[in-house]
Amino acid sequence: MRYDLQGQVALISGAGGSLGEAVARLFAEEGIIVGINDLDPTAAERVAAATQGLALPADITQRAEVEAMVKALVDHFGRLDILVNSAGAKVTPHPLQMLSDEEWHSTLALYLTGTFNCLRAVLPVMLRQHRGRIVNIASICGLAGCAGAAAYSAARPASSA
Ligand SMILES: NC(=O)c1ccc[n+]([C@@H]2O[C@H](COP(=O)([O-])OP(=O)(O)OC[C@H]3O[C@@H](n4cnc5c(N)ncnc54)[C@H](O)[C@@H]3O)[C@@H](O)[C@H]2O)c1
Repeated sequence: MRYDLQGQVALISGAGGSLGEAVARLFAEEGIIVGINDLDPTAAERVAAATQGLALPADITQRAEVEAMVKALVDHFGRLDILVNSAGAKVTPHPLQMLSDEEWHSTLALYLTGTFNCLRAVLPVMLRQHRGRIVNIASICGLAGCAGAAAYSAARPASSA
């Protein structure tokens, strides 16, 4: 079955990265208006230019930045129908006993707090509209665990896979 998604508005976190950019390009081909979030403003601008979307550089681990980003998107397009949580970071594999506090906390902040910040910011808009779709991109590491990736595996719960 094929849905008519023309004119719907989507926010994609980490859309300057490989999966997020692919989603943004596919959405744009389907006529979906895309809000292109990334921590890296240059990447956000590049993908926004390629998809005729709106660049929304922001750090999703920061609640205030996420709320300002969602407000900017809704002020611009008047609605928000789809959220795709795709922000991520490269995993450097090493044994758990070598994992630093900083890496543990930053990984959980990105995948758990970042996703939570985005969900919390978009839900009032979607509830007001009585409409909304959310996709949390996860990983097989959240289901089975991946060797050398303790923080990443912990931050990718099976329920969101
Ligand atoms: N690529 C794979 O094979 C694969 C497999 C399983 C799961 N995943 C998951 O898919 C998602 C995307 O993977 P990818 O390969 O596109 O990664 P990627 O590294 O290519 O892209 C991730 C993007 O997120 C951005 N980002 C990082 N921190 C951010 C922050 N705080 N705020 C906003 N943006 C931020 C980065 O700048 C980057 O552009 C990740 O969540 C990853 O865990 C990827």
